[in-house]
Amino acid sequence: MSNKPMNVGLVGGGKGAFIVNPHQKAIHFDGTRRVTAGALFPDPKIALEEAANWPYPLKGYGSYDEMIAANATLPEDEKLGYILIVTPNHVHFDPAMKAIKAGIPVFCEKPLCLNLKEANALVQAARKHNVPFGVAHTYLGHWTSRFSRYIVRAGLLGDVRWVDTYYLQGWLATKLEATGQMQATWRTNPKLAGGSGCGGDIGTHALMQLRYVTGLDVTEVSAQLETFVQGRMLDDHFTIYCTLSNGGKALVRASQICIGHKNDLGIEISGTKGTLIWRAEDPECITIQLVNQPDRIYWRGAVTPGDGFLPKDVPADLMAEPTIPAGHPEAFHDAYARLHRCFEADVRKWQAGKPFACDGSKYANIEDGWMGIAFIETCVKSSAKRGAWKTLPKKI
Ligand SMILES: NC(=O)c1ccc[n+]([C@@H]2O[C@H](COP(=O)([O-])OP(=O)(O)OC[C@H]3O[C@@H](n4cnc5c(N)ncnc54)[C@H](O)[C@@H]3O)[C@@H](O)[C@H]2O)c1
Repeated sequence: MSNKPMNVGLVGGGKGAFIVNPHQKAIHFDGTRRVTAGALFPDPKIALEEAANWPYPLKGYGSYDEMIAANATLPEDEKLGYILIVTPNHVHFDPAMKAIKAGIPVFCEKPLCLNLKEANALVQAARKHNVPFGVAHTYLGHWTSRFSRYIVRAGLLGDVRWVDTYYLQGWLATKLEATGQMQATWRTNPKLAGGSGCGGDIGTHALMQLRYVTGLDVTEVSAQLETFVQGRMLDDHFTIYCTLSNGGKALVRASQICIGHKNDLGIEISGTKGTLIWRAEDPECITIQLVNQPDRIYWRGAVTPGDGFLPKDVPADLMAEPTIPAGHPEAFHDAYARLHRCFEADVRKWQAGKPFACDGSKYANIEDGWMGIAFIETCVKSSAKRGAWKTLPKKI
């Protein structure tokens, strides 16, 4: 691997933006990647001012079109390794498509885009141009998510019967968008957020957690999208009963009106042999419950293979992956860093002309992004028919 840091270009992030900040830290986490360029705001003048005032040197562009076009003419060591899209949902498709066509890998925030038409086009383009593409489902980057995935997929819980996966928040329990608050304003506008507010914003995380850990897909849904805050244009409460691809059942639920809940993402998986419990607000451990046994709590970095539940051959890369010893807590930023680290590794393989995985095992890929959009569209249709069962479209 080259010891030159990989250059990353930002799409979005200026003027009080939110998620760009954890991403920047995650990009700089290992010293092997760095942010070097940005198209930070829709207005070109402000975009350039924001870049000039950025806390570290950054090549500013008036628009992402300019940033993507300029890349072709840059000397090799200034070219972007990938772009990071951290704009509201309605500005995902266009920069992603333009970057793919220009042969620039893309790491894009979720949800992938606004609708299935856009999602289909992105998947087809990424495949045609053979460009690495990741989707920023943050919570997959927790070591405990990877460990849970191993436990469930290795069959240690038996056959999965039931999954309860949820993401509860309370920050939209009042009509915050009426105050002009930036993040609330676009998230509650269907033209900017997509067909579901709460579901698109955080229900997609709950769905991804289920799919990543269990390896199962949702095949049909009975959905209730509800709006508790009067006058709001999109759902702020999202409750979906699901059939899984193995015949099991699941509840995928999300809410933005559960006062007191902050970023309460969690998952409980019950199989024929036991149950696994994990919460993102307490992300360093998972609980395993087995029949007639005391609960087992597994902490990141303090796992002993062959302990009577875990086999002796827990994969070496999983055992080696923690970056700091147990007890020095990892959290949200570390999870993002793990995603960027793995994406960078795939981009470097791709740059060297080697096969690259982008297989969804280390971060969500473009097909996972597509599945999030397919899920949301099917839920919107089901909810419009008062929860009638609807089948998800065939996988692309
Ligand atoms: N993975 C997660 O945990 C997580 C958390 C929060 C947000 N998100 C996602 O990240 C995205 C951004 O969310 P946010 O809360 O940071 O939004 P935000 O409103 O805080 O920031 C959006 C940024 O995009 C910029 N922007 C808008 N249009 C642009 C354009 N045409 N060109 C350049 N910049 C443009 C805005 O000026 C702003 O800087 C959303 O898709 C959201 O769903 C993901």
